[in-house]
Amino acid sequence: MASAKQPKSLTRGLLLVNIRQLLTLRSPSGKRGPRRGPELSELGIIEDGAVLCVGGKIVSVGKTKDALRDLWLKKNRMKVIEIDCEDQVVLPGFVDSHTHPVFVTARLIDFEKRITGATYEEIAESGGGIRSNVDGVRRAGKSVLAQKVLDVLHEMAEQGTTTVEAKSGYGLTVEAELKSLEAIRDAAARWPGTLVPTLLGAHVVPKEFQDRSQKYVETVCLEMIPQAAKRKLAQFVDVFCDRGAFTSDETEQIFGAATKHGLGVRAHVCQLSECQLSPFLRFNPASFDHLDYVNERDISHLAQRDTVATLVPGANYFLGLGQYPPARALIDAGVPVSLATDYNPGSSPTTSMPFIFSLACTQMKMSPAEAIAAATINGACALRVQDRKGSVEPGKDADLAVFEAADYREIPYWFASNRCAFTVLNGTVVASGGSGELA
Ligand code: NIG
Ligand code: FE
Repeated sequence: MASAKQPKSLTRGLLLVNIRQLLTLRSPSGKRGPRRGPELSELGIIEDGAVLCVGGKIVSVGKTKDALRDLWLKKNRMKVIEIDCEDQVVLPGFVDSHTHPVFVTARLIDFEKRITGATYEEIAESGGGIRSNVDGVRRAGKSVLAQKVLDVLHEMAEQGTTTVEAKSGYGLTVEAELKSLEAIRDAAARWPGTLVPTLLGAHVVPKEFQDRSQKYVETVCLEMIPQAAKRKLAQFVDVFCDRGAFTSDETEQIFGAATKHGLGVRAHVCQLSECQLSPFLRFNPASFDHLDYVNERDISHLAQRDTVATLVPGANYFLGLGQYPPARALIDAGVPVSLATDYNPGSSPTTSMPFIFSLACTQMKMSPAEAIAAATINGACALRVQDRKGSVEPGKDADLAVFEAADYREIPYWFASNRCAFTVLNGTVVASGGSGELA
């Protein structure tokens, strides 16, 4: 087995054996950056595999027969919980790198209006959309919001997700945005997985700033960002840069403020209309998300960079769009691509990464292997946590998903059913189906 140095003092170990396909996602070239082109198809599969985790970290990865012969393991057997994976598939826990979990109510009126033909933008203009979630968040107590987030995290973990990026963005005042970030922090403290918080104060211009978007941008830059950074409530700042939201100039101002305060940047771009991405590249964004209308010039710029293109086909599905983001054009040009749920009440109310894989395969023509690499190691790159997350390698966090399947391609194949048997989140085992933590 490939081993990291064994820790001297052990608390508790976890050994997973009899894994039919262990998808390690280890880098064949040893490179640290996101996977692109043909690299996305290299899953580093070990047949009849085993993984040993100690103290929340992966310490060795290899064949079951080698694991069972391991001298260290023989000596420490009493300190190790062994799980027989019964010939199933094990892979890195999914990294859901784009979610909006801090809201109170579903948007059922928007849902019905869309069914009868209204578009996302028409609904927003007529008083629905993002703004219709704002009052609920402003009025809610922090503990109510934290519980909502936590419930969603549990649901995600039951479907194989172990790391989640979580955005604020339905408060749209300094107080309500910071409260949303505190709710994310409080939920994170009660969940065994990993949360990456993002300030999305620039989700849409709130009603009270109508026709004064510049004043609102100043609030984001001069109050929200400095306070979120000082209180370490966010790692990233996001902007919805599109028709009906924020302009490119405003996005650059917000990115400038984020950079000044030491926060990373990411943006919702080209969801509703084309925009030029190259002016944003000087801020070294971790990710550009959606990209339905990305142009060819920007595709070739992105192919030269480590900024990840995060595709969220759940939004296209739920909005009933015929078109999906151009995954094939991006991958074939060499752009690093990731996949995320975009969990939110308006455009993508799903917590299921396996369903997103299914959409990626059937609607965007990604192969099952590409989809899995996009949602593990490239999701980790989109959050800049690839040194800890996204692959099964010694030294990384013990984040694993175990699926009732004989072949990884079954994960996108059996759509809309949950085949995840259990998940390991930083070394804690959580069973699917509501039976809670196992070990
Ligand atoms: O990613 N486009 C902006 N944000 C979300 C939608 C949020 C909402 O409609 O509530 C998205 O699709
Ligand atoms: Fe989004």
